[in-house]
Amino acid sequence: MGISRKLFIGAAGAACLWALGAQAQGAWPAKSISLVVPFAAGGPTDVVARTLAASMSKTLGQTIVVENKLGAGGTVAAAFVARAAPDGYTFFINHNGMATSTALYRKLPYNPLTDFEFISQAVDVPMTLLARKDFPANNFAEFAAYVKANQAKMNLGNAGLGAVSQLCGMMLERALDVKLTAVPFSGTAPAMNALLGGQIDIMCDQTTQTIPQIKAGSVKFYGVTTKNRIKALPDAPTLAEQGLKDFEVLVWHGIYAPKGTPKPILEKMNAAVRAALKDPDVTRRMADLGAEIAADSKQSPEGLQTWLKAEIDRWGPVIKAGGAFAD
Ligand code: MLT
Repeated sequence: MGISRKLFIGAAGAACLWALGAQAQGAWPAKSISLVVPFAAGGPTDVVARTLAASMSKTLGQTIVVENKLGAGGTVAAAFVARAAPDGYTFFINHNGMATSTALYRKLPYNPLTDFEFISQAVDVPMTLLARKDFPANNFAEFAAYVKANQAKMNLGNAGLGAVSQLCGMMLERALDVKLTAVPFSGTAPAMNALLGGQIDIMCDQTTQTIPQIKAGSVKFYGVTTKNRIKALPDAPTLAEQGLKDFEVLVWHGIYAPKGTPKPILEKMNAAVRAALKDPDVTRRMADLGAEIAADSKQSPEGLQTWLKAEIDRWGPVIKAGGAFAD
């Protein structure tokens, strides 16, 4: 075969592949899309994921199916998505755990900065400090005194190393200079059931799950973890204003895809997230649950990537000083 014929066949083949790829992307999404949630169904991350998924499904014309992949503080799900086919049918939502896990785990089976494509941040969620309903402390001062005096017999629920409930609990232990027994769950939904049932004593958890319980009076509530008071619980003091100077945890959620997902798909997905973040059904539900829509500058791939890098740098030293690690 002559060189020019080979060149022609090569060029035709490449054009054909390009056309097939373009056609596949043009048709995207041609079937339902999976949004992987790293914690238990019914919990804070799941609530955010399902609220966004309902709106995004309308925009994209295909169902977004929320899949809860549990384990190891969200890292099982992250590893699963990092290895998933980059075909536009698997996406991932995760929070600060994407950053904190890099310091918490000695061997993480993925790199959050290089094994994913970045789509957008979604919402920021405050945390709340809670205890079981019959906990013998009626305000934060009493809570702090009781925890200091009874730390040896007290336990703290969380969703494992990498969960924000673990991060917040670790910060609380350091701020009060106490050591409590951690009881890990696959998410704070089952941990909340244990708190309501009195099987665990205290827990830090996000308003997206806790506001209904706080309003129903089914838990004791000692304050919010944000710098300032929040609109959804205007009378609730911050932990910082009650003496835990500089205590601040705000949970941010990002949406990711496996590395190599085609750019046109990432762009369509970003547009669908942005549309959801403007959808009145989403904004109303998020506001009721204390969550704030991410600033416009964070609703871009670059916004999420830059934020994640900064969070890895921010939490690394805090976690190392806290000394909670897993292999
Ligand atoms: C959840 O969805 O269960 C929580 O986000 C877990 C956590 O505390 O990080």
